[in-house]
Amino acid sequence: MKFFIDTADINEIKELAATGMVDGVTTNPSLAAKSGKKFLDLVREICAIVPGPVSAEVTALDYATMMKEAAVLRKIATNVTIKVPLTPDGLKACKSLSSDGVMVNVTLCFSPAQALLAAKAGASFISPFVGRLDDIGSDGMALIDDICTIYRNYDFKTEVLVASIRHPMHIVEAAKIGAHVSTMPPSTLRQLFNHPLTDKGLKAFMDDWAKTGQSIL
Ligand code: G3P
Repeated sequence: MKFFIDTADINEIKELAATGMVDGVTTNPSLAAKSGKKFLDLVREICAIVPGPVSAEVTALDYATMMKEAAVLRKIATNVTIKVPLTPDGLKACKSLSSDGVMVNVTLCFSPAQALLAAKAGASFISPFVGRLDDIGSDGMALIDDICTIYRNYDFKTEVLVASIRHPMHIVEAAKIGAHVSTMPPSTLRQLFNHPLTDKGLKAFMDDWAKTGQSIL
């Protein structure tokens, strides 16, 4: 499973990229607004840090303007992935861009039917939002299972990019299902490393080693 980080915080991206665990970055207009930076500069900066796919979302709602925005965004770097909303215009843009060899991430997916449309439109990634479904008492992970089944049935090349992740078990469950990518907040990526028995075991090892009075170096 590939790990993307869902943030526009440059310091977080630099720090986590150094762990070797970051395969890509996803942003959205809310995260971009939170960064306080000019959007195009922000995307350029992220693309220079992470060589994998960096999702940059169009903000127009109509096809023609989406395509104009995509033309600007795709010039920033070769690893820019154009993010479009799951609307008729967004999927039309997805079809045009993917036919032109551009990576497209279709976002705001909440149903298997929508995911099927995105795959037919040639999306590189579909982003189903598990956390937001869980938030309304629905089952986000059931959606991931459904989409993976449908994509496997037809050998679609679209990768399932699990989004709106809230905690490590979302990632574990998605990995068990076989989803291709998880995009997570930096704090969730850090949580993946943690286990109290690792801390406890390491402390015991270090205490015993100290008693030997030795040093490897
Ligand atoms: O970037 C899309 C998605 O990951 C947003 O997550 O936490 O705002 O539901 P969230």
